[in-house]
Amino acid sequence: MADAQGNKKAKDYHIETPPVQQGFFVKGAGNGDWGLKNRLSKIFNPDTGNTVMLAFDHGYIMGPTSGLERLDIEIPKLNPYVDVLMGTRGAIRTSIDPASSKPICLRGTHDDSVLKDDMTLGSGLGLGIEEIIRINAQMFAIQTFIGSDGERDSLEVLCRAVDSGCRYGIPILAVVAVGKQMARTTEFFLLATRLLAEHGAHAIKTYYCDDFEKVAAACPVPLIVAGGKKLPENEALSMVYKSIQSGARGVDMGRNIFQSISPVAMCKAIRKIVHEGITDKEAYEFFMEENK
Ligand code: R5P
Repeated sequence: MADAQGNKKAKDYHIETPPVQQGFFVKGAGNGDWGLKNRLSKIFNPDTGNTVMLAFDHGYIMGPTSGLERLDIEIPKLNPYVDVLMGTRGAIRTSIDPASSKPICLRGTHDDSVLKDDMTLGSGLGLGIEEIIRINAQMFAIQTFIGSDGERDSLEVLCRAVDSGCRYGIPILAVVAVGKQMARTTEFFLLATRLLAEHGAHAIKTYYCDDFEKVAAACPVPLIVAGGKKLPENEALSMVYKSIQSGARGVDMGRNIFQSISPVAMCKAIRKIVHEGITDKEAYEFFMEENK
């Protein structure tokens, strides 16, 4: 029922108080729509500005991967200790409880399998924006192949994903892939990350490299560092620490978590670096203590 009486009594207009400034904490997203910002706030923790994403999309090119033989068993164990789940629609639908409140970053591209030996040769858009909405994902991940034969096709896919993402307020994560013949140089990552941001990506998943602070500074959107092949736990934690210290706003790791001798302890140790600012040495001590 309309409350005409209540309206007449409204009086606390704070005339002397200027409007509250609506700044936004995610780099490069200040001019985005409310829905886009709301989704980004589920990906990046508003208190720290950072994120810990769990990547478990390996099966889409590698088949059953060590540590990920059973998605339905392994992922729920790690779910409580990460901020975002990054996977394929097949993995999410079959193996993640829809009652989970964890934000989803959905892999949106298909790529060549390991049988082709170099995934950077070909790829395409694997699903439409309706699928992102249907699954209620907060982010759309697009693999890109800068500097390799697949570059032009992957940029076309990225541009169309940005178009549809912007239409519905869904942020796009552009993923930097490094081809077999390519070197992981600072120059390459400076080029690739900046180029992807200028094509409209809202965040970039890339690798750690020398002079990473230059890469982070030159990229107008947040960088999330990928894990890569399994490293000894102390080295993986060092990479996380150096990434965050150099300006990364989070990590998106798979094998260095689920192939660890203690995946849960590894998640917790990574969180402490990313969200609490502890050093890699402290994080490794914590990891060892959790493992006792
Ligand atoms: C990147 O290309 C994909 O998202 C990978 O499946 C993911 O990054 C693999 O994670 P990690 O290298 O940490 O095992």
